[in-house]
Amino acid sequence: LWTTANIIEDNIQKVREQVGSDEVILGLSGGVDSSVVAALLHKAIGDQLTCVFVDTGLLRYREGDQVMAMFAEHMGVKVIRVDAEARFLTALEGVTDPEKKRKVIGGMFIDIFDEESAKLTSAKWLAQGTIYPDVIESAGAKTGKAHLIKSHHNVGGLPENMKLGLVEPLRELFKDEVRVMGVELGLPPEMVYRHPFPGPGLGVRILGEVKKEYADLLRLADHIFIEELRKHDLYDKTSQAFAVFLPVKSVGVTGDGRRYDYVVALRAVETIDFMTARWAHLPYDFLDLVSRRVINEIKGISRVVYDISGKPPATIEWE
Ligand code: XMP
Repeated sequence: LWTTANIIEDNIQKVREQVGSDEVILGLSGGVDSSVVAALLHKAIGDQLTCVFVDTGLLRYREGDQVMAMFAEHMGVKVIRVDAEARFLTALEGVTDPEKKRKVIGGMFIDIFDEESAKLTSAKWLAQGTIYPDVIESAGAKTGKAHLIKSHHNVGGLPENMKLGLVEPLRELFKDEVRVMGVELGLPPEMVYRHPFPGPGLGVRILGEVKKEYADLLRLADHIFIEELRKHDLYDKTSQAFAVFLPVKSVGVTGDGRRYDYVVALRAVETIDFMTARWAHLPYDFLDLVSRRVINEIKGISRVVYDISGKPPATIEWE
């Protein structure tokens, strides 16, 4: 009988047989797939697992701390957090082309992951959150997949010199099955059912050149939007929702004069497959509330717009 509990047990046995007493490295992104692999491997092999979590500085509001709180503190998984914000920002200086940004971010990510795993000299295996659709798609273009190596495959996948065997326990599973498994393994449903987040992160949600100032403003706006969606029971009714930072200044009149501050766009879509999407018809009162909160609470943003473009032709991300 194929219950989720059985699938988990079966996977645990297979992993134990595959790796024996060897050490395993996993790139943990905070996305669903790598999180489920972390939970599964932790259960299967405990301390033989070391996760490497690269904090790119392009993650969402407090995401890095949340990943650490969840895995390191709460579950007792060995996680190495690499604070690489400065390196990513430096590498992105002056880069404005979206595909170039993806390459820079993906390349830097691979370099850092490679450096960290080279330090773990005793590791013999590399675990990945490859799921069945990834296997079929293999070397396709960008997808909604959020796990590490795969999501940065824009630059060509695994580092050459990484002579590690692959552990891919989710290879035969669909996303829905991975989610059910995650919940069964004790991961919080809010994490397991989180909207997809692109590998290059906020790097492609800040139009043009990426700067820390922009990323910090964007994180705050995005957090308000998501928090309100959850509060109003709208989060699970949208497939993906986020804020986009527009590096243009627009005028705002305040008591003491005119202020020129940045603009944020809100994007929310409903979709089955992410190939086509309809903009979410969120209630006006809700949009009004989010807009007021963003403008009142975030110094530096003076205007909020809502994206009412369908895909095609407008892609879900702005870049
Ligand atoms: P678009 O913007 O192409 O997005 O309509 C479709 C889905 O793919 C995600 N996306 C990415 N995911 N790396 C990723 O891992 C990327 O470079 C990337 N670009 C877009 C997007 O968030 C949406 O879910």
